[in-house]
Amino acid sequence: MKLYACAMTRDRTDTAQMDKAHIRPYCVVRPNHYCYYPRNIMPEFNRLFLEKVVRVLWRKADACAGRLYPLSDTLASMAARPFELHLELTNLCNADCVFCPYQFQEREVQFMPDEVFQKAVSDYVAIGGGSVGLTPIVGDALIDPKFLERVRYLRSLPQVDRIWLTTNCILLDKFGVEAVLQSGINALNISTAGFDAEMYRRVYRNASYQRMRRNVTELVERNSALGSPVAITIALRPDRPLDAVMADPDFQPILAHKPQLDFTWSFTSANGRITREILPSSMKLRVVNSRPEACVNTYNGPMVLPDGTVMGCSCVAAMDATKDLGIGNIMRSHLAEIWAGEAVRKLRSSFAASSLNSTCAGCDMYRDLEFYRTRAGRRRAKLNQARVEGKVLKTASARRSPFAGG
Ligand SMILES: C[S@@+](CC[C@H](N)C(=O)[O-])C[C@H]1O[C@@H](n2cnc3c(N)ncnc32)[C@H](O)[C@@H]1O
Ligand code: SF4
Ligand code: SF4
Repeated sequence: MKLYACAMTRDRTDTAQMDKAHIRPYCVVRPNHYCYYPRNIMPEFNRLFLEKVVRVLWRKADACAGRLYPLSDTLASMAARPFELHLELTNLCNADCVFCPYQFQEREVQFMPDEVFQKAVSDYVAIGGGSVGLTPIVGDALIDPKFLERVRYLRSLPQVDRIWLTTNCILLDKFGVEAVLQSGINALNISTAGFDAEMYRRVYRNASYQRMRRNVTELVERNSALGSPVAITIALRPDRPLDAVMADPDFQPILAHKPQLDFTWSFTSANGRITREILPSSMKLRVVNSRPEACVNTYNGPMVLPDGTVMGCSCVAAMDATKDLGIGNIMRSHLAEIWAGEAVRKLRSSFAASSLNSTCAGCDMYRDLEFYRTRAGRRRAKLNQARVEGKVLKTASARRSPFAGG
């Protein structure tokens, strides 16, 4: 019996179980492996996969050339004030994704009170503002009953640049799709398993598939009709091969509107919480073995939690790590003071020393400072420096570029 191995999923299957028309002699990912992706959707899969590979290679080449520029100048500008502000409107979630540390969260569930929201935003605006991310460390911002009024308020402030959210999209209809599209938000990243009911139930472990699907479909339709005011990205976290996911019938009306697509090819263990045993076999665990310089996330901008704690990083691994990554409290100090304070400086310098806290020491979301060696990184630092000097600036032309922290 001949076994066909899939390099993406590591699944093996035999000829008796598959339609021969779907076998290609070699896999695009791993040479000398047979591939059992359906042939007709290989081009779409190849495009998405290759685009991601090209993006990564291009950034590496750019960062390599960027070694001719002094990194210290770029970092000094990023340390001078927060380039972006992240607000965790709530740490409550309405899903229970198999890959997400939310299932182990120990922090008390909270909603951000108005005093915390107002204090964080007014501090930020007073020092020049910039982009605001509403993606929580874990949880979903659409659960916050004040989500829409808060976005509209942020948009009313001239110092606020891009407003951005990653969401599971289950509750979008609560606010009205059109109302969200016209709220002033610039970018919506929709994280989802994909558009197959069974897979969604396995991966997102809730019963809201049809609601999510309707919301996403309406979102891309209305966005197209309105002339695409919002940059929409569908961020796939499937447990099936990507090309099969791309061919799912429910996905086709969404793809017809050509949203940007992204996918996660490896997941963080979030300090050992997400184990090989928990993850479906098709999902890879990211492994980081060395952390030779400060993590890029410690320069991008802080995350304010509902209780006012300011975190030096907004990644999922920081979920319960207020002890290791807390750098102050917004109700006690000004944001500018916190960002320039001793705690964040110590956090950055501890990467090269033996004093690294246990959250960062076990974190596979760690990324080195490569981004700040690229042209985009230097442009960002220049923009931040201009805001230090009191200029109110917008990055409208970079509407589609990803956030550093995103
Ligand atoms: C924690 S969620 C919070 C926002 C919202 N609930 C959502 O899922 O979009 C933010 C992002 O982290 C991703 N994420 C969750 N757990 C992860 C893990 N273990 N590794 C990598 N990314 C993860 C999610 O897929 C999502 O895109
Ligand atoms: S990934 Fe997002 S939607 Fe899924 S459980 Fe985590 S916080 Fe909730
Ligand atoms: S190592 Fe992980 S937890 Fe630490 S700052 Fe980087 S992304 Fe955040």
